[in-house]
Amino acid sequence: MFLRGALQAAVERLTENAVGSPRMNAETLLMFVLGCDRAYLYAHPERELTGNEQARYDEAIARRASGYPAQYITGHQEFWGLDFLVNPAVLIPRPETEHVIETVLELVGERTSKVKIVDVGTGSGAIAIALAKELPLAEIYAVDLSAEALEVARANAARLELDRVRFAKSDVLDDFPRDGSFDFVVSNPPYVALNEEDKVQDVVKKFEPRMAVFAGEHGLDVIRKLIPQAHETLREGGWLLIEIGYSMAEAVCGLLTGWDGMRVAPDLAGIPRVVVARKPQK
Ligand SMILES: C[S@@+](CC[C@H](N)C(=O)[O-])C[C@H]1O[C@@H](n2cnc3c(N)ncnc32)[C@H](O)[C@@H]1O
Repeated sequence: MFLRGALQAAVERLTENAVGSPRMNAETLLMFVLGCDRAYLYAHPERELTGNEQARYDEAIARRASGYPAQYITGHQEFWGLDFLVNPAVLIPRPETEHVIETVLELVGERTSKVKIVDVGTGSGAIAIALAKELPLAEIYAVDLSAEALEVARANAARLELDRVRFAKSDVLDDFPRDGSFDFVVSNPPYVALNEEDKVQDVVKKFEPRMAVFAGEHGLDVIRKLIPQAHETLREGGWLLIEIGYSMAEAVCGLLTGWDGMRVAPDLAGIPRVVVARKPQK
């Protein structure tokens, strides 16, 4: 089949299966199968697919039509302008998480001295690695409870030549030196409540790691543990930043009694997204 026909058939199949943005998905998967860019697709509509290419494309489209995320098929997702490897062991990094990076950068400001940062629940390494790119002098650590996720994060750091990020396995900060020397503890933890599972998109429930998404009955299990451990880890005046879900600001702020400078930064849709609090200075 010619490239143009293969694309058209794929768009129709994805449309029939109610996959959003069918053309974009069909093109992305064809670029992945052919190892080419979008310009090539437009420049060569009459290019004939080999039997092998057609079979691989059919398989990719069938998986996407079943709801499987395109990012897990291609193995890639862009975050903060960087190309991250992803697989089903890690959450696909979301654009709203870029607010965590922006908020850290605002707080670091013009400070030229070395800052110490730990990213809790690093997944693909998105936050830690993006911060390493922006803050070349920073000392950056990242932890996750999932050994499989840490493998992906380490591969990303190596590929992006930002492997000065130090990764370790830990349940929140249980196995991390909580020595009161850190300037930032940042986290996009799992925060979906089990009692709200029915409101979660099917694609997330079916294909993304449960431990990256759900955190107990009220979604607060990891955050409850993180807040006191972050307090021990931070120096006085150090900052804690936590990404939260759309209805969690009040509950999370309620857990931050005794902290200073508390605020909630909204995302572009105006949804409360990042809780910021500062360890008091005596
Ligand atoms: C929402 S994902 C965030 C991944 C990545 N930071 C991002 O923003 O794309 C949460 C991550 O926390 C990890 N996690 C879940 N429970 C944890 C725990 N108790 N201790 C450490 N990490 C945990 C999961 O494995 C997952 O990688």
